Amino acid sequence: MKVLVVGSGGREHALCWKLRQSPLLTKLWCAPGNAGIADSAECVAIGPEKVDDLLAFAKTHAVDLVVVGPEAPLVLGLADKCREAGIKVFGPSAAAAELEGSKGFMKDVAAKAGIPTAWYGRFTDMAKAKEFIRAKGAPIVVKTDGLAAGKGVVVAMNLDEALAAVDSMMGDKVFGDAGNELVIEEFLDGEECSFFALCDGKTALPLVAAQDHKRVGDGDTGPNTGGMGAYSPAPVVTEAVQAEIMERSILPLVATMAAMGKPYTGVLFAGIMVTGSGPKLLEYNVRFGDPECQVLMARLKSDLLPVLLAGAEGQLAGVSLDWSDDVALVVVMAARGYPGAYEKNTVIGGLDAAGQVEGVTVLHAGTALKDGKVVATGGRVLGITARGASVAEARERAYKAVDALDWKGGFCRRDIAWRALARG
Ligand code: AMP
Ligand code: GLY
Repeated sequence: MKVLVVGSGGREHALCWKLRQSPLLTKLWCAPGNAGIADSAECVAIGPEKVDDLLAFAKTHAVDLVVVGPEAPLVLGLADKCREAGIKVFGPSAAAAELEGSKGFMKDVAAKAGIPTAWYGRFTDMAKAKEFIRAKGAPIVVKTDGLAAGKGVVVAMNLDEALAAVDSMMGDKVFGDAGNELVIEEFLDGEECSFFALCDGKTALPLVAAQDHKRVGDGDTGPNTGGMGAYSPAPVVTEAVQAEIMERSILPLVATMAAMGKPYTGVLFAGIMVTGSGPKLLEYNVRFGDPECQVLMARLKSDLLPVLLAGAEGQLAGVSLDWSDDVALVVVMAARGYPGAYEKNTVIGGLDAAGQVEGVTVLHAGTALKDGKVVATGGRVLGITARGASVAEARERAYKAVDALDWKGGFCRRDIAWRALARG
């Protein structure tokens, strides 16, 4: 079977690394890929937003299955175009990808489906938005409706902060058109986790939960990032919590999207706040999390390829998955300066030594090969992924590999999985 993976991050390296192990695989391409992905797949120089070029490539090379990593090509309709051309694709239509593309749409669907989530209001008028904030009081959360590179969210602890967020998002348009509409919602207090399910338009197959670390600095300090590390399982997601998330936040969404004529096919990522009154939905994303995907793939024992194919074909009912009892943990190495301006093209040494640490796989996120050397090209650059019998063991292995690297231009958080360790 010939597979094309779209994307170039740590998530896509994890997917390619896992798909490469499938006995069903005959050929694997990744567009555009990176220096690490090149070990598992043939990299093709087509950017993820060039949906027509991706489609043409898939047709020319008789690709059997397209697996889409990031949200941008989905929002641009790559999955629709593949389906129209008779090419199997694991990923939602543009209409279904609106779940991530528009927070207002997502909240309306969640309300329709009766999913436990924060109360909210949608606003295109600044005065009305501010009136709502004053009426509800703080803490309160202000979000741009559209995609803002993960930055369009202000968790305001007081009224002034919330009102200022309205001014900058809608008045000053700091996130451009993404701020033409705002969603203002209830502040949910609790412990956050990322939960994943594979969907085939009709039903959903649970994967497992992971916990991300969004802030750049140790102790969850500093600005938000795409994610600085993750681990799975997430102890806050007990079996009972997982069952409740499936019953109340995943299956009703799949049923409601189908009833709306926008069936959801692909991986569904639910950002969940586990509160004192149970798990509540923060948001949906229409893709795997990055770096959560890295730890999910490290723990998945089953062959991924037939499962993604079953998802694309609407055949997930009755499929089950095997997971390792091991803990998997990923430490993201980023270029100094990230998430602000960062240096590019610094040379990374010690990759072989890092990869030889027991239980460790070095996944690449933003790298390229230049004159025979691996150089950093992105903000998030490597995902040092380790398995172990316990959180402590996985973490020790991951940091041992980090310390084996010779890369002056990089840094990482040193406290990944602190929540799990604090539980004892
Ligand atoms: P999002 O971009 O929607 O994932 O939001 C970014 C982060 O803001 C989330 O990961 C949460 O940590 C936080 N957040 C979003 N919505 C809420 C909410 N309603 N209550 C508390 N925290 C929130
Ligand atoms: N790590 C969070 C995300 O992928 O959105």
